[in-house]
Amino acid sequence: MSFKPFSKTLQNKIDPLMARRPKVKLGSIDFDSPLLLAPMSAICNAPFRELMERLGAGGTVSELISCHGINNGNERTRNMLKIFEAEKNIGIQLFGEEGEAMAEASKVAQEGGPKFIDINMGCPVRKVVSKGGGSALLKEPLKLGKFFNTIKSALEVPLTIKIRTGWDENSINALEVMHIAKEEGVEFIAVHGRTRTQGYSGQAKWNLLEELASEKILPFIGNGDLHHPVTTKQRLEMTNCQALMLGRGPLRSPFIFLESYLDDPTTSPFTTSDYLEIINEYYRLLQHYTDWERVYLIQMRKLIVWFISGFHGASKLRTKLFEAKDVEDVMKLTEDYLLALPSAKKNIDFTQSFMSGGHG
Ligand SMILES: Cc1cc2nc3c(=O)[nH]c(=O)nc-3n(C[C@H](O)[C@H](O)[C@H](O)COP(=O)(O)O)c2cc1C
Repeated sequence: MSFKPFSKTLQNKIDPLMARRPKVKLGSIDFDSPLLLAPMSAICNAPFRELMERLGAGGTVSELISCHGINNGNERTRNMLKIFEAEKNIGIQLFGEEGEAMAEASKVAQEGGPKFIDINMGCPVRKVVSKGGGSALLKEPLKLGKFFNTIKSALEVPLTIKIRTGWDENSINALEVMHIAKEEGVEFIAVHGRTRTQGYSGQAKWNLLEELASEKILPFIGNGDLHHPVTTKQRLEMTNCQALMLGRGPLRSPFIFLESYLDDPTTSPFTTSDYLEIINEYYRLLQHYTDWERVYLIQMRKLIVWFISGFHGASKLRTKLFEAKDVEDVMKLTEDYLLALPSAKKNIDFTQSFMSGGHG
């Protein structure tokens, strides 16, 4: 049993904001809020997903997991299927290029008790697209009907997909993919508002996402560049989308799923002690996830660097964290820094690109 409650001080700030979130049903799947955590490789493991759900994410999706890794019984891949008891609204995301292999892996993935299985159709990474998986699936829409059908036939839980708007500017085909997906019983679609060739450059095309959502073909989740509670709240208030997915935003603003429901999201109630508490909680959860100590150091260091970004003196701490030899050092340096920090005010230039590389 991995669950341990937050302190009363933190929970008392969380609860009223949690209560402001409207529930949403996408297809047959119930979520606690229309703000969902987007899948992110090497980030959205069970500890991070549980933490984000307890900090207000209405649901979460795992990192992308290889269908071949699962089918070959690869231990590391199978460990990625782990779901914690406290996780409620979790989807497992698989990637692959061939229906039968995806169906076989889906059967294994659903044994862990996810609420849905999601197909990665947005990954732009060469290693994945060169084999025909990720966003390369968008290049041959005529093959998609059979692909979805084969996977869906193997499943007892709903099937969902996450795509980009198209392969490139000249082949934007999200609408066509939506029609095919609906025909085959896919229950919702999440769309990252960029093409594959765009990578992470420029801005997500929200005009296009809003148009697609207003077609009302499938329950629609818009995604891309919602990195701040102010922009997320604004989008929530005006969108045609049934839900929004946030990926990189929660890395620098881990309370974003709650802060987006503040009357004034520029003034957050969360303090440096709250940041310390959630960092400690993530470390505790990580120890329930794996006993591989090397992972503790790598995961804690990167998560802390993201969470504290924008705080006064954060870059100095970052340098020290990368020099630290073990996770205990990392945790101690972080505690000393956060306890001495007078304010949790963040100074981040959101016009600068951030983490321009990912699998979707
Ligand atoms: C580090 C990183 C890893 C990602 N891994 C995945 C993934 O495994 N599956 C997926 O569908 N998308 C993945 N993505 C894409 C995100 O889910 C999301 O579509 C994208 O980052 C745009 O949303 P954002 O601006 O809110 O981050 C990843 C993105 C990043 C930055």
